[in-house]
Amino acid sequence: MKNILITGGAGFIGSHVVRLFVNQYPPYNIINLDSLTYAGNLENLKDIENSPNYIFIKGDICNEQLIDTVFKEQQVTDVIHLAAESHVDRSIKDPLSFVQTNVFGTVNLLNAAMNAWKENVTEHIFFHVSTDEVYGSLDEDGYFLETTPYDPQSPYSASKAGSDHFVRAWANTYKLPIKITNCSNNYGPNQFPEKLIPLMINNIKNNKPLPVYGKGENVRDWLYVIDHARAIDEVFHRGKPGETYNVGGFNEWKNIDIVRLLCGVMDRKLGRPEGESAKLITFVTDRAGHDLRYAIDASKIMNDLGWKPSLQFEEGLEKTVDWYLRNGEWLEHVTSGAYQQYYQQHYGG
Ligand code: NAD
Ligand code: TYD
Repeated sequence: MKNILITGGAGFIGSHVVRLFVNQYPPYNIINLDSLTYAGNLENLKDIENSPNYIFIKGDICNEQLIDTVFKEQQVTDVIHLAAESHVDRSIKDPLSFVQTNVFGTVNLLNAAMNAWKENVTEHIFFHVSTDEVYGSLDEDGYFLETTPYDPQSPYSASKAGSDHFVRAWANTYKLPIKITNCSNNYGPNQFPEKLIPLMINNIKNNKPLPVYGKGENVRDWLYVIDHARAIDEVFHRGKPGETYNVGGFNEWKNIDIVRLLCGVMDRKLGRPEGESAKLITFVTDRAGHDLRYAIDASKIMNDLGWKPSLQFEEGLEKTVDWYLRNGEWLEHVTSGAYQQYYQQHYGG
């Protein structure tokens, strides 16, 4: 019997992880705890919200009393921790909220887990979902391995690196069984349109300028979100306690090439003349401290657990564009109100 606390389950990746666990493992009880920040949205989980093995609790991972109570009342047996502030640009403007949620919130969860599990700690798992950005920035060559030294460059990645260190410290000091994944950039349905791919889809749809930072030469390694959820499932069930697994798509793209590809896909889907959407591309001031390249070597999870990405990027991008075009209402809901203010402040006009 497992009662799994999934934090951040109303967000982009979390909602796909919640759905996978609720549908795939009916004997498990899935407790989704999320404070519903601007990035959290229960519309992401409409299809499973009435499932008998699912409950939602609105709450902040930084709230010590609430988290202790959730562990006791729900008899939490395992944690999959995704709740975080997740956007680099926002971390540059407001680093403290990243320290609060990503570092303090993680330590609060670790404390609560130890308090609840101290009699039989080896029977539990604390799974921490992290990012490849903790390894810093690569030049043209090389890959991030699990052994690559941490070298975070942005307030976001520094806060995630801090949280990873605390999780490992709990394993070392208190013998908490932990698992950590460090994944590359995700894309797919339900991603908040502050991130590159959904922002570009939304702007192309609305004939708005497509703001490419710097020269668009920065490289990211993209993975379809459902493949990340599958990797979390594999590591949760079959990964070794105490281990770290890098997760990535072996799928590197320059930002400008992704934007051009998206323009082509959208022209076709919207019935626009070829080349029409690409006219919206606008090069804007670069992000401060912009990491040049991320690239994951995912050999360990592939060799040890048999996981591999299920989709080619072009196919995943088509699916993603189709989802956003089919779900105009979702997009309208999340881009009304506070999003407009954020967009104005960050991109101007
Ligand atoms: P997201 O911003 O879409 O979702 C984050 C969720 O956490 C939201 O539902 C939000 O409401 C919730 N949340 C934020 N602060 C909270 C708090 N104090 N208490 C409770 N809930 C809170 O993020 P995402 O892109 O889905 O990322 C999920 C996790 O995966 C993060 O830990 C992120 O660092 C990691 N990650 C993301 C990517 C990516 O490409 N998006 C890649 C690798 C790892
Ligand atoms: P993002 O989706 O914010 O993810 P991350 O910074 O965590 O990798 O950005 C992906 C890349 O796209 C990154 O190199 C910054 C760039 N980018 C733009 O060029 N324009 C934009 O409007 C955004 C949001 C990102």
